[in-house]
Amino acid sequence: MFHLAAQIDVRRSMDDPVHDASVNVLGTLSVLQAAREAGAGAVVVCSTGGAIYGDGAPLPTTEAEPAEPASPYGMSKLAAERYTRFFVGAHGLPALVLRFANVYGPRQHPAGGAGVVSLFCDRARAGLRPTVFGDGGQTRDFLYVGDVARAALASADRLAAGELAGEVFNVGTGTESTVVELAATIGTIAGLAPEAFTPEFLPARAGELRRSCLDPSRCIAALGLPSPTPLAEGLARTWAWHTGR
Ligand SMILES: NC(=O)c1ccc[n+]([C@@H]2O[C@H](COP(=O)([O-])OP(=O)(O)OC[C@H]3O[C@@H](n4cnc5c(N)ncnc54)[C@H](O)[C@@H]3O)[C@@H](O)[C@H]2O)c1
Repeated sequence: MFHLAAQIDVRRSMDDPVHDASVNVLGTLSVLQAAREAGAGAVVVCSTGGAIYGDGAPLPTTEAEPAEPASPYGMSKLAAERYTRFFVGAHGLPALVLRFANVYGPRQHPAGGAGVVSLFCDRARAGLRPTVFGDGGQTRDFLYVGDVARAALASADRLAAGELAGEVFNVGTGTESTVVELAATIGTIAGLAPEAFTPEFLPARAGELRRSCLDPSRCIAALGLPSPTPLAEGLARTWAWHTGR
């Protein structure tokens, strides 16, 4: 069982934390309970690295850093992690948690965690310059969706083999990129002259993390995964989807 369903909008969680908790906490509890009743052989619960560690954590952040969520979204995802741990300990549920960095790739809708990639690709395709909130020096760990799928499938295999229950793994690249660098790379892949894709800067948005980057070494070693997809390669695949759809 792969549990990805969630209320994923951090800003919405600030406006309506009750709705956020009802989906992310009670929803996850329903999934865990159903998994237990069905005798599921493997349960992969999807959580977040970006919203759980908070701004002060050393980078790239390891799983050893304490969880310091600053938003109701981060808190509800942390609660979901703790309920997962409870079901492992109390009921022997074969479950583990994957904390994703900022996921991007083909077929992404623009509202998600790395919706900025999807938005920038849409702007480039329309011949418009990208919009950046703040100075564009904020960093993210952009993770290709294929790497997420590989980690989730490998997790399920290992759980089904009776291994790794109760683990919490970062799924990221260990590489930080600024939003301005991201825009420049997408502009290059789209074949645009730098001046045609210079960002338009808007005021910074309140509550946004300044820097975020996850250390994926434990996950890569435990699951036997290949190195994460380099950003330029993942962006080229994403751009091919945007232009071919
Ligand atoms: N996209 C990212 O960068 C990122 C980063 C960290 C963690 N995550 C986690 O990965 C998972 C998938 O995120 P995503 O970006 O694909 O988001 P998404 O919004 O594309 O997918 C979430 C899905 O959950 C469904 N859903 C919402 N409320 C529901 C409910 N009450 N009952 C049943 N289904 C419901 C939505 O319809 C949607 O299809 C989430 O758990 C999210 O917290 C995503």
